Amino acid sequence: METNVQVHDKEFELLLEEDTIAKRIRLMAIQLNVDYENREPLFIAVLNGSFLFMADLMKEINLPCETEFIKVSSYHGTSSSGSVKDMMGMPANIKGRDIIIVEDIIDTGLTMQYILAEIYKLEPASVTVCSLLFKPEALKVELPELTYVGFEIPNEFVVGYGLDYDGLGRNLNHIYRAISIEK
Ligand code: IMP
Repeated sequence: METNVQVHDKEFELLLEEDTIAKRIRLMAIQLNVDYENREPLFIAVLNGSFLFMADLMKEINLPCETEFIKVSSYHGTSSSGSVKDMMGMPANIKGRDIIIVEDIIDTGLTMQYILAEIYKLEPASVTVCSLLFKPEALKVELPELTYVGFEIPNEFVVGYGLDYDGLGRNLNHIYRAISIEK
């Protein structure tokens, strides 16, 4: 099986296979179904990177729930800029709700810290974060809300399954890591 892919100028190698991702997501959903039993959570996915994860996760959720999508523009190239520029689509119905934020990846955590601050202003009953990927070595802030993590991965740039490298690679079925990058 050919496991390397080229995206723009960089070569990537297989990190997580489609089947492995699917199995982990089913387990994450089971955990959420148990933890939120008898509640009606509001899932808020962070676009664009989480679109496939959100879709696959929601297919396994059997709770009465609502789904919303927000968009934060802050990231260019292969390293986090650390500055959040803009946020769109924050739902109005957050007050008193149990919020589950669905994200593709937590890198420095700065994007999530910003999103959390905006959500807390709207007085939710509770907030947890559910991220498919997490780079513990890159984390720069405390994120006690990060309760559900699919995979802890090394501090390397990844693409595929919704994640892009300068706009490309979101449609790859597996997740790949950069073989060599200048960070
Ligand atoms: P953070 O603010 O540093 O945690 O970065 C969060 C955002 O940066 C994610 O939502 C992704 O859009 C993007 N990002 C971080 N690391 C990667 C990566 O390895 N590949 C693709 N996008 C990434």
